[in-house]
Amino acid sequence: MEFSVGFNENSAKKIKNVIFVERTVRVNFENGPSIPFEDCWLRDHCRCTQCYHANTFQRAKHILELPDSKILTLQFDKNSLTIEWDDKHTTEFTADFLSQFDYKTWKNNRRLKPRLWRGCNVADRIAKVHVDKFLDSDDSSKEVFQSLLDYGVAFITGVQPSAEATETVCKALGGIQHTIFGATWEFTTVADHADTAYTNLPLAAHNDNIYWTEAAGLQILHCIEHTNGTGGETILVDGFYGATCLKEDHPEDYEFLTTYEIEGEYIENRHHFTHSAPVIQIDKNTEDIKQIRFNVYDRSAMAFRSGRDCRLYYRSLKNLARYYENKENQWIFKLVPGLVMVIDNFRLLHGRNGFTGRRVLCGAYVSRSDWLDKARSLNLIQ
Ligand SMILES: [Fe+2]
Ligand SMILES: [Zn+2]
Repeated sequence: MEFSVGFNENSAKKIKNVIFVERTVRVNFENGPSIPFEDCWLRDHCRCTQCYHANTFQRAKHILELPDSKILTLQFDKNSLTIEWDDKHTTEFTADFLSQFDYKTWKNNRRLKPRLWRGCNVADRIAKVHVDKFLDSDDSSKEVFQSLLDYGVAFITGVQPSAEATETVCKALGGIQHTIFGATWEFTTVADHADTAYTNLPLAAHNDNIYWTEAAGLQILHCIEHTNGTGGETILVDGFYGATCLKEDHPEDYEFLTTYEIEGEYIENRHHFTHSAPVIQIDKNTEDIKQIRFNVYDRSAMAFRSGRDCRLYYRSLKNLARYYENKENQWIFKLVPGLVMVIDNFRLLHGRNGFTGRRVLCGAYVSRSDWLDKARSLNLIQ
């Protein structure tokens, strides 16, 4: 994949010249880029105090108040562009501000750049950060969020094996997503919910919450006790890597799973969730994979448009599942008290081996908006 350099790294852009044709102002910068601006955009992006609240970073006017005014004069020097409008308004832009809006760079700067597992030994690459450092230092916090952005997983170590200590970690990851499973949950094989997770059966790799309009962003799991038994190893798989393999090997299946809406469902006493969406969500502009919604258990019973679609559903899901069930793509390890596992539920699939004995897990979800907010505030993404 190819990415342009972000504007922050060459921010001192100077204007070379400005060409005004009809209602388009083309600004040419020294050593590029050359960016065309429509006059309606220029007026809408006026940063004067009447048009923009600089203290709240919000526009001051409704879009219907935006006048269809025309440019009377344009003046520029290396560092700024000044526009006089025919309704007696004046707008001044800095060269730096305007230079951010080269579409290709702007879009690329907003792309996430996940590093696919593709046979790499992910265990050696991900962040393993002590809880005290994670809670106290921005640099350690950055390490955790960068690991989540790159590999979809990070470990926090040295955590007290209690629900309270785990909750503190969840809050620092962006805040807890409240769901019917509680803010934070603690579970054994004594079922509080009608879900296979609350048993000691094996669970094949899956994403959580394909039945919600927004699945959980992060899943946080802490095994605070496993006594008098064996098994229960955690299975992690890179959902993006499997989808990328499917695209290469079975393009027709990839096309089906990126477009056909497949319904997920969760039912228990007084709750009934359903949501339909493609299993592989892609960004329409970049074609980057944004989310995997793969859960063989939570598929609801569905009617199909045609026999062909029905057959494609089975073929494509089985072909995708083969990458996820391939041991070469799975990372299998045992969670132990003190180790908090954080995974990106939009990307990674998780599962577990069956187990015996008493096993107590606690954890929580963090919404994607909330953890990406943290990553953005730490300047890791735009
Ligand atoms: Fe799960
Ligand atoms: Zn203005």
